[in-house]
Amino acid sequence: MQAKITLLPGDGIGPEVVAEGVKTLQAVGEKFGHIFEFTEALAGGIAIDQIGNPLPDESLAACRQSDAVLLGAVGGPKWSDPKAKVRPEQGLLKLRKELGLFANVRPVKIYPALADASTLKREVVEKVDLVIIRELTGGLYFGQPQGRRDNERGRAALDTMYYTEAEIGRLMRVAFDLARQRRKKVTSVDKANVLASSRLWREVAHEVAAEYPDVEYEDILVDACSMYLIRNPGDFDVVATENMFGDILSDEASMLAGSMGMLPSASLAEGKFGLYEPIHGSAPDIAGQGIANPLATILSVAMMLRTTFELPQEALDVEAAVDAVLAAGHRSPDLAGPGEAAIGTTEMGDLVVNAIAT
Ligand code: IPM
Ligand code: MG
Repeated sequence: MQAKITLLPGDGIGPEVVAEGVKTLQAVGEKFGHIFEFTEALAGGIAIDQIGNPLPDESLAACRQSDAVLLGAVGGPKWSDPKAKVRPEQGLLKLRKELGLFANVRPVKIYPALADASTLKREVVEKVDLVIIRELTGGLYFGQPQGRRDNERGRAALDTMYYTEAEIGRLMRVAFDLARQRRKKVTSVDKANVLASSRLWREVAHEVAAEYPDVEYEDILVDACSMYLIRNPGDFDVVATENMFGDILSDEASMLAGSMGMLPSASLAEGKFGLYEPIHGSAPDIAGQGIANPLATILSVAMMLRTTFELPQEALDVEAAVDAVLAAGHRSPDLAGPGEAAIGTTEMGDLVVNAIAT
């Protein structure tokens, strides 16, 4: 097959890890006879510096003309002044909205070789294999009105949590469809004891659950969920929730795996289009040193192959290559235990590429 991929390397370690993702795709292309065509575009802080806009029109147009997007990371202390008029994160939010990326898929899986990297006990985390499906284009992030409302009594500001039944329904269907391919359990997370938007969420979630009688369903409150994620993380299969709750819970869940350096993500639109990115940020403290762990990006490429390009064997090959490299004892600095030798970003990428080729 032939496919067009837009690369948005972004800031910090973004360019370093995206380069390894590209190498991986090229290796897959050579092995299986696919042609991947890459277009690089600006997004994030680097786009602010060069053009004054965190998501230039050309970048958005490039994404629209491609089959999938691979993003590194955006943001960094250089652009994080809360008073700044333009912020890298605005580029990311605009990208999600404009491309209709409503379902953010974040799998958290423990690699046996890395189970001791978690701050939780091995016996608690070793059974973890869950996916968070986070709604990505609604809720507090986009609800209007939003903004400052200073008045004579002082400074004030507001955000709006707004959801329609259509937004909730399509997100829940992604969760149930995925659960059918997994352990057949969906947990919907809300705050229905307080929020009107959560009561609608729960109502619609129940209606969708009725369409999937073969899938076990439960709903829990977000505060309780944050507790169960630490107490019994192995109980979860697919967790579906609104934008802000998902933002928080997915960072919490990522720590079950010990390092964020291993966790991929997909942001999906209706149809097959998707944006793929590691869940870690731009890590400005280690940028440019060649020591970032590229595996989260490489595993995001595997998600791209499976979901957008419908190439399950190719995806499995990439995942098996990562497994093999870890099982052989290779570690990036974030994964290395005290006194354990570590390898750099490009060496890790080379090892994965070699494992794919053999
Ligand atoms: C994420 C990030 C973003 C979010 C930020 C960078 C806007 O935290 O992808 O989880 O809050 O969605
Ligand atoms: Mg986040």
